[in-house]
Amino acid sequence: MAVNRSVIRGVGAYLPKRVMTNDDMAKIVDTTNDWIVERTGITQRHIAGDDELTSDLGIAAARQALIRAGIDPVDIDLVICATATPDRTFPATAVKIQHGLGITKGAAFDVQAVCSGFVYALTIADSFLKSGQFKRAIVVGAETFSRILDWTDRGTCVLFGDGAGAVVLEAQPQHGTREDRGILSTAIRSDGRYEELLYVDGGPGSTKTVGHLRMNGREVFRHAVQKIYGVIEETLVTTGYAPDEIDLYVPHQANKRILDGIAKKLGVGPEKIMVTLDRHGNTSAASIPLALNQAFEAHRVKEGSLVLMEAMGGGFTWGAVLARW
Ligand code: UT7
Repeated sequence: MAVNRSVIRGVGAYLPKRVMTNDDMAKIVDTTNDWIVERTGITQRHIAGDDELTSDLGIAAARQALIRAGIDPVDIDLVICATATPDRTFPATAVKIQHGLGITKGAAFDVQAVCSGFVYALTIADSFLKSGQFKRAIVVGAETFSRILDWTDRGTCVLFGDGAGAVVLEAQPQHGTREDRGILSTAIRSDGRYEELLYVDGGPGSTKTVGHLRMNGREVFRHAVQKIYGVIEETLVTTGYAPDEIDLYVPHQANKRILDGIAKKLGVGPEKIMVTLDRHGNTSAASIPLALNQAFEAHRVKEGSLVLMEAMGGGFTWGAVLARW
């Protein structure tokens, strides 16, 4: 049966120029390169310049994705930006990205699911494209987490970085089988009972301030592998693929130990897991498209590759998307 599938036509990314190493961190808070590498796998992260906004990062990533897709911005009718660090409380950063790309038609809006934002945004875009409501979408994950960190809290400030990534999706008629190109299966979940484990202690509707990120890392860690494994399994069961039939896992990059734990539970080798957190840190909603971009540039994904993206973040929110490139 013929169906519309959301095919990934292009990917792009942008990282701010400024690099902050673990040794740079050790000059600010009581930490060491050894602790950060051993507990997280992170060696450095990028930090946005004072003149760079989340929308600027997102526009740069989206431009690259459009060029690689060979698609003119005027042919895009949906822009979704996953971010927890919008330029302003409103308007949506996606509308600024839409404007920056010279697009005046269709719709643009933000998705707020923190580190799972890109998986949520892909799932939403896929629904619109499958239904025929829109034809071509840009899905951006863009963050400037450096602006919401408490730079005196060594338990969190060493973990995060800034950056953006984007994909261009196009609705294309396919056969309706698991051999199709495009997004094959999605699963998103949330559970607000865990709000106090990972949150920002401010907001326009409560404190009237922006606030700082707060996390009980050990408790978040405890939930991560199990919850992420659950949604990965769901996308695999839906399509009938076994874990080792996936060509590349492109996970949210929070902690190398979480990635290793998931790989072990799936029974797949490290060569199947895309790792960028050593150089990028945790860039929240930007981490998956940044990793996807690196995978593309390293020729680790090509037409026909089965790619599984997954994430978990504040809320809790979590989810997975299985796509054939
Ligand atoms: O992206 C959204 C989802 N987020 C995550 O998935 C994050 C999940 N959590 C984690 O990645 C880990 O829990 C962390 C990397 C945040 C922390 O690792 P941990 O092994 O869970 O360490 P911990 O929080 O249990 O702390 C162990 C010790 C503590 O000292 P005591 O109490 O044992 O004396 C901390 O004070 O390490 C200390 N510590 C540090 N030491 C040096 C915490 N941060 C640091 C630091 N440098 N930066």
